[in-house]
Amino acid sequence: MDRIGILTGGGDAPGLNAVIRAVVKAASTLFGCEVIGIRQGFEGLLDLNGTLLLTPDSVRGILPRGGTILGAANRGNPFARRVIRDGVEVIEDVSDLVVQRIHELGLDTLIVVGGDGTLRICVELFEKGSPVVGVPKTIDNDIQGTDVTFGFDTAVSMATEAIDRLHTTAESHHRVMVVELMGRNAGFITLEAGLAGGADVILIPEIPFCFEPIFEKIQERARAGRYFSIIAVAEGARPKDHEQIFRMEGDKIRSPRLGGIGQYVAEEVAQTCALETRVTVLGHLQRGGPPTAFDRWLATRFGAAAVRLAAERKHGYLVGLHGTEIVDIRLQDVLKRPKRVDLDGEVIRTARDLGICLGN
Ligand code: F6P
Repeated sequence: MDRIGILTGGGDAPGLNAVIRAVVKAASTLFGCEVIGIRQGFEGLLDLNGTLLLTPDSVRGILPRGGTILGAANRGNPFARRVIRDGVEVIEDVSDLVVQRIHELGLDTLIVVGGDGTLRICVELFEKGSPVVGVPKTIDNDIQGTDVTFGFDTAVSMATEAIDRLHTTAESHHRVMVVELMGRNAGFITLEAGLAGGADVILIPEIPFCFEPIFEKIQERARAGRYFSIIAVAEGARPKDHEQIFRMEGDKIRSPRLGGIGQYVAEEVAQTCALETRVTVLGHLQRGGPPTAFDRWLATRFGAAAVRLAAERKHGYLVGLHGTEIVDIRLQDVLKRPKRVDLDGEVIRTARDLGICLGN
């Protein structure tokens, strides 16, 4: 193995730099192998200045840094790329160029670090003969094949701290504080941070909710003299009789942008429960900044494991964590279905056992 490439696709997640560092260090220590960094996701493969040599020296000090030194692009799909032809915007499939470039660069393996969308591109490139290895990344934790993704723990920690801080205002002012958290289709962040922060109501995309039980929970607390409540709501949660709420429509390239469910819930609660409400949208604070120790630890193990897969030429596989062990799984199998909160699982049961309202 002489040369491997690495790119980070999709949104950033705390721990990406730890993966890059681990890949470079392991490749150099174990195999004396060169590592080429690809900038801005797959886009860097279409640009002659889109690559850089990564050495143990150039990755020194990046372990605790959020973001990604390679840049990320969550609109860079080579199978549907927006280009201008004769002044007109068209969508083109440039995947053959990407495959060609991987070969031109002499990459024995391309390590692709990304979420669901990026890994789908990775599978399609593999099917076209590209030597790819995947590393799962998303703060949402919605990828099958791994118990947990790096970035998730940092997001949950941030969200939990936010809920802790909102508690003091809620209690002092007798308010209902609504906190809108990330999670497009999976409610893991909201469920875990809601439990860790002691939320009274937790609303997740997997459980379309009704307002009645939410009002009942808040009024029951007020009757017991607790004139404040915390509602943790995932941005992808929705009432039973309503679609998800978006701030911006999507198109062929961009996903629609969620946002607004927190405000919607707060207004309904204020009207019916006659309590003051306030909304906090935590947004990208959950994705930025230094990764927790757990995320650095997991990202480092994923990076080293990806290099070992590359050395075995085990292409088309994804590294993952099962229990305490690092494993590898065929990418095609991983993407068959998305990972969602198990509604019959122990965590949901725990929430119910504690009397937390899940909106149903
Ligand atoms: O998939 C991770 C995620 O943070 C989602 O929770 C959120 O809906 C989305 O990305 C936001 O994406 P963007 O940064 O492009 O607005």
